[in-house]
Amino acid sequence: MKHELVKEILYTKEQIDVRTKELAEEISKFYETQEVKDNTVILIGLLKGCVPFMANFLNNFTYECQTEYMVVSSYLGGTKTSGEPKINLDLNLSIKDKTILIVEDIVDSGLTLDYVKKYLYFKGARDVKILTMLDKPEGRKVEMNVEWSGFTIQNQFVIGYGLDYEERLRNLPYVAICDTDKLKDWKW
Ligand code: IMP
Repeated sequence: MKHELVKEILYTKEQIDVRTKELAEEISKFYETQEVKDNTVILIGLLKGCVPFMANFLNNFTYECQTEYMVVSSYLGGTKTSGEPKINLDLNLSIKDKTILIVEDIVDSGLTLDYVKKYLYFKGARDVKILTMLDKPEGRKVEMNVEWSGFTIQNQFVIGYGLDYEERLRNLPYVAICDTDKLKDWKW
């Protein structure tokens, strides 16, 4: 049964599982060919949206790794970006010379990742790459090189599988286009 705020399911749990496994295998192989300091890749998940995707990815990623999380807010809770990223939860370890893989739910304007990437290099990271479950290239406001993305989508507001509308709907087990017309006078 789909949620009433769902206009269309874009990717089912099964489709996300298949794609995530594929990415995990590809990225594990990639790091085997690289020089990685201390043979450990630091996966930095951007909370809160990364949680289901990152958990799924971790279950399939076979290269040695450590996990860290950051909270970087750029959305003001609605469907439009505020454009001013802010770090609300910072890293707990030194990333000097480390190989980093940022794990994100969705890249839209690119402003959040642009900011985080620069911050990580400023903290001394040797290499920072990006893995995102979804990519909305039409929304870009800054040039952003996304190394790995699960699915490329159009400029629509999506919910589920970690993605929220005003902190809700992250628990939907699929990625769906949100029925934004219904949101106007929606009563939770
Ligand atoms: P960016 O800085 O514009 O690239 O936005 C990145 C963040 O905005 C993501 O981590 C999401 O939290 C949020 N975001 C962007 N597009 C959507 C969407 O369609 N649904 C829900 N959240 C979104």
